[in-house]
Amino acid sequence: MSKLNIEKVLDVHHWNDTLFSFKTTRDSGFRFENGHFTMIGLQQDNGRPLLRAYSIASANYEDELEFFSIKVPDGPLTSRLQKIVPGDEIYVSQKPTGTLVADHLLPGKRLWLLSTGTGLAPFMSIIKDPTVYERFDQVILTHGVRYVSELAYQEQIENELPEHEYFGEMVREQLLYYPTVTREPYRNTGRLTDLMLSGKLFTDLDVPKPNVEKDRFMLCGSPAMLKDLTNILDDWGFKETRAGVPHEYVIERAFVEK
Ligand code: A2P
Repeated sequence: MSKLNIEKVLDVHHWNDTLFSFKTTRDSGFRFENGHFTMIGLQQDNGRPLLRAYSIASANYEDELEFFSIKVPDGPLTSRLQKIVPGDEIYVSQKPTGTLVADHLLPGKRLWLLSTGTGLAPFMSIIKDPTVYERFDQVILTHGVRYVSELAYQEQIENELPEHEYFGEMVREQLLYYPTVTREPYRNTGRLTDLMLSGKLFTDLDVPKPNVEKDRFMLCGSPAMLKDLTNILDDWGFKETRAGVPHEYVIERAFVEK
């Protein structure tokens, strides 16, 4: 097992009954790439750490680390993690890793960040990365959720990032955000898969249907979502980056059973 840092919880935000996020201190030696995940956790009664993989939602230049989590009532880790308060200590593995990294994709014009649920987390890091806007003309973030209350970070995406003093202009000109809700009325409804197959996603965003030459994808969500979306992308002629050979899309499981 890789070495663990002990970080202090600085802030906890409960989005609703099922989702929360929190910020911690960041060891000065802790390095990661935007889009990476790491193992985090708490000490168990037997003194040993209980760890799960979490995407890092903060960007790699920020002083604090941020994580976005579901609350599973009988989840071994999240049943306890959801009760953390500022001042508590958590473990953070010193070895972040992951595939949702812009370098793992062939160059392209448009970067699609397709997420459902807590799969949004790595993309919060990526949309705060100025180099991503230098690599791609357009960055499109989709977030599919069951209920409106699960559209976490919406205020930050829609209002704060476009006003950011350094990269706000890039966000205003290049980032498109498409939240969609499946189980209650909202301005966009339906699963991302259906919205792609019907073409509604592209008409709503006023972008062309994805094309192998120009479009690149990062996917993060449940195993079922990943399977269905990669089937669509494969049918459309896109290939997944494998064994270090860059192609048009990369995927990461949102780490849900916690
Ligand atoms: P739905 O409400 O139709 O199940 P979950 O919390 O289960 O991970 O779901 C998050 C969002 O992802 C929900 O809007 C859900 O839609 C949607 N979803 C679930 N399975 C898939 C799938 N196989 N492909 C695309 N979207 C999915």
